[in-house]
Amino acid sequence: MDRRSFIGTCTAGAAGLTAAGSLSSWAADAKPREYAPALLIHEHGEALKASSLKPQFNYIFHYPFEATPVFLLDLGRPVTPHILTTEDRSPYSWPGGVGHHRSIVAFSAICAHQLAYPSHDVSFISFRKTRAHRGVQDGLIHCCAEHSQYDPARGAEVLSGPARQPLSAVLLAHDPHADTLTAHATVGGELFDAFFHKYEMKLSLDVGPKAHTAVAGQAVVQELDRFCKNPIQC
Ligand code: FES
Repeated sequence: MDRRSFIGTCTAGAAGLTAAGSLSSWAADAKPREYAPALLIHEHGEALKASSLKPQFNYIFHYPFEATPVFLLDLGRPVTPHILTTEDRSPYSWPGGVGHHRSIVAFSAICAHQLAYPSHDVSFISFRKTRAHRGVQDGLIHCCAEHSQYDPARGAEVLSGPARQPLSAVLLAHDPHADTLTAHATVGGELFDAFFHKYEMKLSLDVGPKAHTAVAGQAVVQELDRFCKNPIQC
């Protein structure tokens, strides 16, 4: 897909939401931050097919920077747009799921409380198909650090715990013919500056000098259990 058709697809998608009346405030509220588009691919280089994702399963890729992790989830059911607010009370519109069943979503995997995130060594945060020990319902993103819980079917809204804003959403464009996914923007409260500041030394060791490099062109998707040696289940 060239850039013009990519932008056309995105515009058509937003127009479709508005025309359906499901998110009439989309144009007024949403302030997505566009980044360079990145096609989601497998480790061996071929484009990931959206319909090949296992439902309710943790996948991870990095976007919009080489060191900033993102959860990719097929929730197994359609998810509709939702209005949320950031910690500073700025409203924004989350456009819901994409894919043939509108069930695929992506959120920054950096906890909005104190920035726990999945590294190669350990992950305190992940999607839980069934509720965790302290879970309030099934199907949440749960951070074991201090038990913040986010609902990925409602734009990663905070359901419990100390987090004061939703996880930032990563916006995906779905090509219905090729069945591919392209990350192109974020919406919601980004925490990338705080993340790079807090973990500067660790990221330089783990990721190297490319930690701050913007992802462009492609982003590799992995199963969380393959990416991380020790996904914590609390
Ligand atoms: S860092 Fe996630 S709940 Fe504190």
